[in-house]
Amino acid sequence: MKNNIFNKYSGFKLSVLPTPLHKLENISKLFKANVYCKRDDLTGFAFGGNKTRKLEFLVADAKRKKADTLIGIGGVQSNFCRIASAAGAVYGLEVHLVLGGSKRPEKATANLLLDNLFGAKTYFVESEDWSDWENYEAELSDKLTKKGKKVYRMPIGGSSPVGALGYVKAFNEIMQNSKKMKIKFDYIFHATASAGTQSGLVVGAKLNNWNGKIIGFDVSKEKNILMSEIFKLSSKVAENFKVKINEKDILVDDGYMGEKYAAVTKKGIEAVEIFAKNEGIMLDYVYSGKAASGLLDYIRKGRFLKNENLLFLHTGGNIHLFK
Ligand SMILES: Cc1ncc(COP(=O)(O)O)c(C=O)c1O
Repeated sequence: MKNNIFNKYSGFKLSVLPTPLHKLENISKLFKANVYCKRDDLTGFAFGGNKTRKLEFLVADAKRKKADTLIGIGGVQSNFCRIASAAGAVYGLEVHLVLGGSKRPEKATANLLLDNLFGAKTYFVESEDWSDWENYEAELSDKLTKKGKKVYRMPIGGSSPVGALGYVKAFNEIMQNSKKMKIKFDYIFHATASAGTQSGLVVGAKLNNWNGKIIGFDVSKEKNILMSEIFKLSSKVAENFKVKINEKDILVDDGYMGEKYAAVTKKGIEAVEIFAKNEGIMLDYVYSGKAASGLLDYIRKGRFLKNENLLFLHTGGNIHLFK
């Protein structure tokens, strides 16, 4: 496979790879299905998760462009912002974070506590509307630039065409795991929110001529909006490899999000408990727990054949349990 694009962004390692991929023996028995887990909760940097793979590319891009400052945007408990803070600290970049939410937190806990520990400068936007966070970030970027900073701006979740490359590479890694284990996966399931992870996976699947299904469980926004964002971003990423993405490659299910982004769901709470008590694997209520609740519900509804192999991509986020 042509992977020169990966070399272009090499040299700024964050993740400890490959992450493990193993069968969930107890859940498989309990649910009478073949359920495996790709452990991207164990990417090994600043408590891990899917964002270390994206940030490896983003930091490399920032360094290539001679930036001295990273700006990140997210919810006040953003996993992406936690990893961005750590990456900036390790690679000598100043980090500014625009964090949004309905109410300024009284106490810095979980991800926010870690942002502070890594020395990031945080700005709070009292709003749940992602576009308010983005508008604030644009102003902040102007201000910092005027002060002489060489700013590298990153969208919510680090889901730029550069960040998404992390998951093209991750898909290749899944194929290597699969070959080593002599198991062909029929489905990959994961939480999808800002389009980057799913876009990377979809492009990776295309490059590997993989004919399984990638199903993103929407945890963040209206399904049609997210699907069109994934289509746009994956098409852009695919240009690097001279392949084309079809709209039918983008599969998203918003049935497990609940009322809105970050709203806790009953099924999500149940999934967090099932993974914890049967496998000792910690999920969270915002991302991976909701995705797992979708997968378990699909199994209960008999949506798979007996011999089909199901892969749950654990994207991390469990620091949120300590909020
Ligand atoms: C733990 C976790 N899982 C899944 C996702 C979704 O990834 P993406 O934003 O690339 O869709 C995120 C980030 O948004 C996350 O923090």
